Amino acid sequence: MKNKQEIGSPMIDKPIVVALDYPSLEQALAMAAQLDPQRCRLKVGKELYTRTGPKIIEALSAKGFEIFLDLKFHDIPNTVAKAVRCAAEMGVWMVNVHASGGRKMMEQARHELDQVKDQRTLLIAVTVLTSMQHSDLAEIGIDIEPMLHVQRLAELTKQSGLDGVVCSAQEAAMLRSSLGADFRLVTPGIRLAGDSSDDQQRIMTPGKALAQGSNYLVIGRPITKAAKPMQALLAIEQDISNALV
Ligand code: C5P
Repeated sequence: MKNKQEIGSPMIDKPIVVALDYPSLEQALAMAAQLDPQRCRLKVGKELYTRTGPKIIEALSAKGFEIFLDLKFHDIPNTVAKAVRCAAEMGVWMVNVHASGGRKMMEQARHELDQVKDQRTLLIAVTVLTSMQHSDLAEIGIDIEPMLHVQRLAELTKQSGLDGVVCSAQEAAMLRSSLGADFRLVTPGIRLAGDSSDDQQRIMTPGKALAQGSNYLVIGRPITKAAKPMQALLAIEQDISNALV
């Protein structure tokens, strides 16, 4: 598959990141036991991490998984930078902050991360939460189209030295063309044709999202709620292969 992934995005293998949205260590590990670390990475978010703390990172890493620690840090620069350092020292593959924390916060996080010896943790930013519409932004004083704000925050993220952003697949083509080939785009809201969209508003198929310039696909329920998670993962890989030949 690696050789085929060349439309719109840099060659990146293992694009699937499975969202482990569970309330307990046991449930998360039971799902991980059904997945293959050679074929996917895992995302640990606020619910699971708040419940388990670093134990979940240690347990999943010991099984060979690379982890996206999705805690979306947003605080004063010093606090965010130290939190990012802790994440890197735990050995996570990817960690994120809110771009709306601003340039100083992101630059300090970048600087702190670079001080960690032998770290290769990717540092990315969330632009506009996909749960927010124009009216929600206007209410907090940002009275512009969400896409424009996404573009503005993604540019600030790049200028601040971060590795990429989380964005919707609908924004991937625009951000890929304006921010260049090396900037990582991480996209949730991924569904195969015919899948339930659950509570996602704007969805895209895996192959199309990669073709539009996404690098990593965050996928939860289509895999974690499947009777056979690895079969669901295989179907996603096939959709990617078909789209990228
Ligand atoms: O189950 P599903 O595939 O919808 O899960 C998507 C994952 O991506 C969830 O963990 C969700 O919190 C996360 N996410 C999202 N939309 C964003 C950012 C993160 O769906 N804008």
